[in-house]
Amino acid sequence: CGIVGYIGFREAIPVLLKGLKRLEYRGYDSAGIAVINRQLAVYKKCGKVANLELVCGEASLNSTIGIGHTRWATHGAPNDVNSHPHCSGSGKLAIVHNGIFENYLVIREGLIKKGHIFESETDTEVIIHLIEDVKRLLHVPLQEAVRLALRQVMGTYAIVIINEENPGELIAARKSSPLAIGVGEQEYFIASDATAIVEFAKNIIYLDDHQIARITYDSLHVVDIDNHEQKPHICELEIELDFIEKSGYEHFMFKEIFEQPQSIKNCMQCRLDTERALVTFDELEDYKTEIINARRIIIVSCGTSWHAGLIGEYFIEKYGELSVEVEYASEFRYRSPIINRGDIVLAISQSGETADTLAATELAKAEGALVLCICNVVGASIPRASHATMYTNAGIEIGVASTKAFSSQVTVLALLSLYIGQIKEKIQPQTAAGLLTELSKLPSVIRKTLQCADTMQFIATELHNFYNCLFLGRGVAFPVALEGALKLKEISYIHAEGYPAAEMKHGPIALIDDKMPVIFIAANNDSYEKIINNIQEVKARKGMVIAIVAEDDTEIKKMADFIVEVPQVNDLMMPIISTIPLQLLAYYSALLRNCDVDQPRNLAKSVTVE
Ligand code: G6P
Repeated sequence: CGIVGYIGFREAIPVLLKGLKRLEYRGYDSAGIAVINRQLAVYKKCGKVANLELVCGEASLNSTIGIGHTRWATHGAPNDVNSHPHCSGSGKLAIVHNGIFENYLVIREGLIKKGHIFESETDTEVIIHLIEDVKRLLHVPLQEAVRLALRQVMGTYAIVIINEENPGELIAARKSSPLAIGVGEQEYFIASDATAIVEFAKNIIYLDDHQIARITYDSLHVVDIDNHEQKPHICELEIELDFIEKSGYEHFMFKEIFEQPQSIKNCMQCRLDTERALVTFDELEDYKTEIINARRIIIVSCGTSWHAGLIGEYFIEKYGELSVEVEYASEFRYRSPIINRGDIVLAISQSGETADTLAATELAKAEGALVLCICNVVGASIPRASHATMYTNAGIEIGVASTKAFSSQVTVLALLSLYIGQIKEKIQPQTAAGLLTELSKLPSVIRKTLQCADTMQFIATELHNFYNCLFLGRGVAFPVALEGALKLKEISYIHAEGYPAAEMKHGPIALIDDKMPVIFIAANNDSYEKIINNIQEVKARKGMVIAIVAEDDTEIKKMADFIVEVPQVNDLMMPIISTIPLQLLAYYSALLRNCDVDQPRNLAKSVTVE
């Protein structure tokens, strides 16, 4: 899941371990490094980087080249043997790899027939054996052997290789899995995610698909898979260290929940002009005509970003008067999706690297659709595969469970819906002015909403002992219910489901008894009476009711076991305001259950494999 590499004048092991620690947030189950000090030495360990650090503690230093990896198991169980780096048959080459080599079993069989013996069950070990086989057979340098071997494989990869026989070179290559090279003075850093190297290098090269780089202590040479020379493009890395430090907070997730007033402010800046009552999206300027004439928007995304998409559907259909469909990217890409003239595909992804969303984006582009995306990571793969990108500008998000990125996605969607309504002249200027004035207050309203933290901590002391939980909402509160349930199950491992409140009587009502807490998202006005009926149905069956209500609520307060008051806001702001208590509820419940809040088991921050 995470790759680091180093070649230069520093001790490699501390640089690699530091980089791996920076990548911990992405989720992993084992870690390893390989360095060369005359001989290739590999250290790897199941579990946390701290375990690996203990093993490396005994290692002799004096190595200025190395590679490191955090693994999230795909092929083979998470154990020491399956961890990366993997070595070639001779033990002279070592590789770290993100992604999946799909045809590795066929290649493995061919190599076994030639006498190769494999230690692990991984696809990665097969590829390093293949590379060595090609190198020996054709007597070619390592970069060329890697290129020729990669021509034989199918799948996705970011790889870095070191070679004991030539301890002055690193080979790096990528296809559909990110890889960046940090360029220093007489040193190079490699990482699958620039956060790993931000304190070491300010200039960075993002490798493109099918590029293979040879990096020595003082040179960089890049070719593509057809052996054409490539001129790498160096850009400046813009990451503030503050975002990747806990800065006194106990957990990144908590810090990021509390960063939301600022992240939303950054997201709205330059887009919301209250004086002229206008929304501007400079990035969409070239596509205005297509947007005005669009017949449909198809949103593709995964996880929390998919929930943001569902909220966007309400907004865009209401204020932009444009039909919207929201698809799981993984389902969309494997159907035969019909993309008509006038369809716009909108990908939503925090990381911009999620494999299914990227594939859906590429598919839509190949089918001729205008592809837009909403993304938090500048220069990531999905923005690069899209025609235009609306960045959320939330700052790096480290907690695996998405919080500030989600609220920024929803903010972009709220602004986008008004923008569409505005350019299509479907929204009255006066209505727009009112909505925009209110939207501009979102950061301060969020600040006020965050005051519910103590209440949520108190409710969590009740909730954390339950095994199941139901989240219900109507209208735009339904995706909020989905998001609340996802947050709770992701980090506290309490089984939770989100449902449209009206659907309760078509199934979930059978589950309701005194062991089933039900959380109602009831801060919207339009379906107030109906949600009251649903609450009564739960109460009649002895279910515990926790209700998120607007501060002027009178009725629900009388019925619910626990009440959480949030500021009274319009429907564009309500989903964000109602999600905040649910983020906090998940956080405190996870704490009380002694769960690893920032790195929940089995989850990865960005899922770069299918
Ligand atoms: C993973 C993360 C989720 C995220 C989802 C989609 O499952 O754990 O928090 O919502 O991927 O990620 P994306 O980066 O595409 O928004």
